[in-house]
Amino acid sequence: MAFSAIDWQKKIYLNGFAGKRPVVPTDFESLEHSARVRLSQQAYAYVSGGAGEQSTLRSNRVGFENIKIVPKMLRDVEIRNTTINLFGRSVPSPILFAPIGVLELVHPDGDLAVAKAAVNLDVPFIFSNQASVAMEHCAKVMGDKPRWFQLYWSKSRALISNFIHRAEACGCETIVVTLDTTMLGWRPMDLNLGYLPFLEGKGIAQYTSDSVFQTMLDEPDATQYAKLPLSVEAIRGAIGMARRYPGNNLVAKITSGRPLRAVRKFIDIYSNPATTWDDLQFLRGLTKLNIILKGILHPDDAVKAIQFGMDGIIVSNHGGRQVDGAIATIQALPAVIEAVRNQIPVLLDSGVRTGADVFKALALGAKAVCVGRPYVYGLAIAGQQGVEDVIHHMMTQFELTMALAGCSQISEINSTFVRTT
Ligand code: FNR
Repeated sequence: MAFSAIDWQKKIYLNGFAGKRPVVPTDFESLEHSARVRLSQQAYAYVSGGAGEQSTLRSNRVGFENIKIVPKMLRDVEIRNTTINLFGRSVPSPILFAPIGVLELVHPDGDLAVAKAAVNLDVPFIFSNQASVAMEHCAKVMGDKPRWFQLYWSKSRALISNFIHRAEACGCETIVVTLDTTMLGWRPMDLNLGYLPFLEGKGIAQYTSDSVFQTMLDEPDATQYAKLPLSVEAIRGAIGMARRYPGNNLVAKITSGRPLRAVRKFIDIYSNPATTWDDLQFLRGLTKLNIILKGILHPDDAVKAIQFGMDGIIVSNHGGRQVDGAIATIQALPAVIEAVRNQIPVLLDSGVRTGADVFKALALGAKAVCVGRPYVYGLAIAGQQGVEDVIHHMMTQFELTMALAGCSQISEINSTFVRTT
């Protein structure tokens, strides 16, 4: 049965009447708080943190707050439709799951729980390049429901090719190339704890499950690696690393040295700061799938994306995790929309916390939004159910906002419904 916003809202009140409050809070502040108390200090820092003084993180929110909705009255909003068509696919609301790495930090089921939630919600799931669960396992539980694959541009073209071929075989419909992470941003919340999950072998499942990557581990490696300081923590970390590595025999894995080699190889090759626009031709020649670029903020880059034959863009600052002091995405959106002139769909992420934010993004020209941290917090609180609840809360608030602003269809939402202060 199709999801009904009104029924969802009613259910929350009726449950409350019967003495049962929602497990997953319905506003972001409470949601984040509820997740925080369940997470380790490291996991919370990794998920919540932004770059530098967290200025981009704050700007993303301020940006949304500075856009005001101006509702119109008496427009018959009794029957509403929030469906959109994205690359020929009908999806029930303009919301997608952003690619999020290392989900095992917040819940043991990680990506698999999100994949199952995505099926129930019919919301497209963008598999992360840094997933904790290999894409094949997620695809297996998703039937024909929509999924995309997000790629980091590796130093190895053979690895890029194999990732793309695996994504095709997994039924991914779109490749999302994330451009803004040619290196990790300066992230004090992680740095102050000296914590990077990849060093524990977390978030590298797409690599360790990859035949090309495995072949790379067989090759002699001339790289001089820094020596790990020996400590109880380091030994514990090395055992954890081996445990996460594919295979059952822990001793054999440790003595083979492969888990450590995998982490080192991953660190060496996961991104390539020398990448330029011309490299995209390689990808274009590799696949017929849609290719969209994530991390666009400048209108000049939006024009380039079209020139280089891309099928869409995501206006994103990586949830404020890369450049401190960067423009808020909702602030960057209008110029990008103007530059694109309707030639390709423009999506937006970073700072989307409520259904009202979704409305604002659409009013300013976005086709859809990707949601990041909110669903990660839902996952932390209640696994698959938590993810579903977060998205249901957001879908409901979006539909109510749309109706209360005077729109019964997505196509009616436009810039006349918002004012920038
Ligand atoms: C991310 N993001 C991200 N992006 C990407 O392309 N590949 C990835 O593996 C990850 N991993 C990741 C981990 C964590 C913990 C976070 C918070 C974010 C960025 C993500 O796709 C998206 O751009 C932001 O999360 C959107 O911002 P909000 O909604 O989290 O504010």
